[in-house]
Amino acid sequence: MEANTQLQKKSSTKNKDAEKNKNISKALENNKSNFPDVVLDVKNICKTYQSKNGEIEALKNIKFNVKKGEYISIIGPSGCGKSTLLSIIAGLEDKTSGEVIVNGKIGYMLQKDNLLEWRTIYKNVLLGLEIQKANTDENKKYALELLKKYGLYEFKDKYPMQLSGGMRQRVALIRTLAIRPKILLLDEAFSALDAQTRLMVTEDIYKILKEENITALMVTHDISEAISMSDRIVVLSQRPSTVKNIYTIDFEIQNRSPLICRENPKFSEYFNIIWKELEKYGKAAEKQKNQK
Ligand SMILES: Nc1ncnc2c1ncn2[C@@H]1O[C@H](COP(=O)(O)OP(=O)(O)OP(=O)(O)O)[C@@H](O)[C@H]1O
Ligand SMILES: [Mg+2]
Repeated sequence: MEANTQLQKKSSTKNKDAEKNKNISKALENNKSNFPDVVLDVKNICKTYQSKNGEIEALKNIKFNVKKGEYISIIGPSGCGKSTLLSIIAGLEDKTSGEVIVNGKIGYMLQKDNLLEWRTIYKNVLLGLEIQKANTDENKKYALELLKKYGLYEFKDKYPMQLSGGMRQRVALIRTLAIRPKILLLDEAFSALDAQTRLMVTEDIYKILKEENITALMVTHDISEAISMSDRIVVLSQRPSTVKNIYTIDFEIQNRSPLICRENPKFSEYFNIIWKELEKYGKAAEKQKNQK
C-alpha cells in the first residue's frame, strides 16, 4: 500500500517534471528567434485560400525556425500545405497572417529539374543569373568554377537530354548555387528519380550543400530521406495544418552523410516513431478527403 502511494507520489512528481521540461522546451523554442544564428524564422503563419466551394484553411499558426547550417525537413500528409508554406517562405505567395524573417538569399529547387532542353548545360546554369540580371563576368566565372568543382565542366556544352537524371538534378542545383543562396528550399526535389538514383543524388546533393555551407529546408514524403538528411524534422498535421512535433535527429556522428545515417541503429527507431505519428495524420487527412 505504502509502496503504491510512494509510486503514485513518484509518478506525480515525474509528471510535474515532464510538464516543466515541456514548458521549458516550449519557452526555448519561442525564444530561438532571438538567437543570432537563426537564418529563417517562421512566425505564426496562417494561410486561407478562397475557392469557389468556400474557404480552405491550409496553414494555421505555423511556427519554427532554422539555424545557420541546419538541414530541416518538413513532412506531413498529402495536401496539408507543405508547398504552400515553402512558397510563402520564398515570397512567391501571400500569407493570410504571420511573419517570415529571412536572413540571406533564398534558392528554390523543385521536383522537376526545369532544365531548358534547347540550352546547353552551361547556358542552363546561367539562367538564374540572367533572370536576376546578375550575369556579370564575375558570376559567369563562378558558375564555371562550380561546374568544374562538381564534375560537370566536360558536359558544359552538352544538352540536358544527354545527361542522366542524377546529373540533371546536379545541374539544377548548380544553377541555383550560381546565384549564391544562403538558404535552399527543396520541394520534393528528388521524388521524380528512381529509388537507386534517388539515394545517390541525395548523398551527392547533401555533400555539396555542406561543402557550400548552405542551410536547407526540404519538403519530402519520404520519412527515410528526411531522417537520413536532417538535423530536425518538422511534422505537420492534416489541414488546417499545424506543427505537431519537431524531432531532433542526432546520430552522434561527426561527418554524417545520408548513406552513413541509414546504416545507424538509431535510424529505425526514428523511423518507427515518425511513421506512427504520420500514419495518424495521414488517416485523418484521408477521412477529411472522403467526407467531401
Ligand atoms: N491556389 C490555390 N487555390 C485554392 N486552394 C489551393 C491553392 N493552392 C493549394 N490549395 C489547397 O491548399 C491545400 C494545400 O496545398 P499544398 O499544395 O500546399 O499541399 P502539399 O502538402 O504540398 O500537398 P502534396 O503533399 O500533395 O504536395 C490543398 O488542399 C490544396 O488543394
Ligand atoms: Mg506539395
